Amino acid sequence: MTDLSGRVALVTGGTRGIGLATAKALAEAGATVVLTGRDESRAKEAAAAAGASAGLALDVTDAKAVSTLVRGVAKEHGKLDIVVANAGIMEDALLGMIKEDLVDTTLSTNVAGTLHTVQAAARAMMRKKTGAIVVLASIVGEYGSAGQTVYAASKAAVANIARSAAKELGRSGIRVNAVAPGVIDTDLTAGLAEDAKADNIARTPLGRLGAAEDVAKAIRFLVSDEASFVTGQVLGVDGGLVL
Ligand code: NAI
Repeated sequence: MTDLSGRVALVTGGTRGIGLATAKALAEAGATVVLTGRDESRAKEAAAAAGASAGLALDVTDAKAVSTLVRGVAKEHGKLDIVVANAGIMEDALLGMIKEDLVDTTLSTNVAGTLHTVQAAARAMMRKKTGAIVVLASIVGEYGSAGQTVYAASKAAVANIARSAAKELGRSGIRVNAVAPGVIDTDLTAGLAEDAKADNIARTPLGRLGAAEDVAKAIRFLVSDEASFVTGQVLGVDGGLVL
């Protein structure tokens, strides 16, 4: 079992799905975990369910709020070892039907929100010259998806945030990686039609949709010392769907 005892971790968008499963997985491995959600009471409930030490309100599109929260967590615990920039949204729209608002919300949450989080994490970790950051990309960021042009563009950007930040922060002892989940059974994909789910399962060599815990375990690996020489990677967690 991965040992993260003594580590301080922050997970954004931790109230449900992959974020909640990740907070749980890190706490189970011994880390002190702070999770965030847009709604404070839901964040507190999720923190209790995950065995996290605190649940705080945070909208990742608010750069100042991200910076203040990350600094506050690092100050309270004396350091920040692990940051998982998980918060994200997905809304489908076909070309010709994409509204400006959808572009703005998707890019401000998935791209700018991830950037704000990575930047704040880097600032907090730089002093100790150690740290591990994971961001949430997607297989559609690499391969595209009809009806998901905006989301795919945002997740391609997220993968390149990981690669660029890894190059920039490596000399400071900070590793930055991404996971690229396939189709994971969470609220985000709950709206997928049953035939689309069946089609995805049929095309997946491992023969099922992913669970939030599958992604959480990959993230736990990437932030642990087991991955001490791994940085700038985008790790597929997709049951082989893209093969
Ligand atoms: P989810 O919808 O169950 O959870 C997303 C979380 O992000 C929620 O807690 C939500 O409140 C939070 N969030 C959204 N906007 C926010 C904002 N502006 N500020 C703070 N928090 C915000 O989704 P799921 O499936 O757990 O996804 C987590 C991440 O994994 C996302 O970045 C998503 O794009 C990515 N992903 C998910 C896949 C899937 O199949 N479920 C596949 C590939 C990537």
